Amino acid sequence: MLGSEKIKSLISGMQSLPSMPALYMEMMQLLADPNVSVRQVGDLIEQDPAMTAKTLQLVNSAFFGLGRHVSSPHDAASLLGLDILKSLVLSIGIFSQYDDIRFPVKGFSIEALWRHCSRVGGLARQMAEAEGVAKQMAQDCLLAGLLHDIGKLILAVNLPAEYQQMLDAVAAEPDQADAIEQAAFGTSHGAVGAYLFGLWGLPESVVEAVAFHNHPGQQREVVFGVLSLVHVASGLVNQASQVKSLANAIDLEYLAAVGKEERLESWATLLDEADP
Ligand SMILES: [Fe+2]
Repeated sequence: MLGSEKIKSLISGMQSLPSMPALYMEMMQLLADPNVSVRQVGDLIEQDPAMTAKTLQLVNSAFFGLGRHVSSPHDAASLLGLDILKSLVLSIGIFSQYDDIRFPVKGFSIEALWRHCSRVGGLARQMAEAEGVAKQMAQDCLLAGLLHDIGKLILAVNLPAEYQQMLDAVAAEPDQADAIEQAAFGTSHGAVGAYLFGLWGLPESVVEAVAFHNHPGQQREVVFGVLSLVHVASGLVNQASQVKSLANAIDLEYLAAVGKEERLESWATLLDEADP
């Protein structure tokens, strides 16, 4: 699906694709050294005040449930681990390449999209921890959640007139959002984001979760994983913010197929607790 000519030609015609954030690349370089210290990584992030502020805002949100105030990237790294910090730097670094003033699209807010993505990432990670999955999978849930809607950003800033038209059509028929998007662009925002992240070499489970987050049943092998948690987290957050009805936000048939339908209620409680 991601190799489809349609996505390739759509994306290759775009003027403004997000670039891999420079700070993220510097961090990757640092982390390649097995002797790197938390202090060195914290120092690197602290050189960028905007990144530091956004990182602290996020780790101090209830989704991380740290129970204490984190006041430096060093603290964030030692409490959450460098892998989590890396995911935050990557996603914040992508979003900060755009803002609503330079890229205005009526009815679309990059700031609101960031808030949505950070809630979905935080919730998906909490759900993963509640399931007792491996640490790496919980980290991938955070990253995939933070990035899942980047395709919307890419479409909106590159094709603002078409995107606006699509939003108007969706406003009239909210339950047809996915079909309207498909008709307008020949693909989904999930596929657009996943295409970019595939090129960047992000983990396969993250790319897959981004690609199919609204249509998890399209996954080649239907098994419980990062995609399952990001799909439900995004559905719960959308439902809570009344973007979608529950029936339209979460694929219950899929959830049953991965054997997790009885967990939905308890996952919804996590959202209520973090974000009342
Ligand atoms: Fe989405």
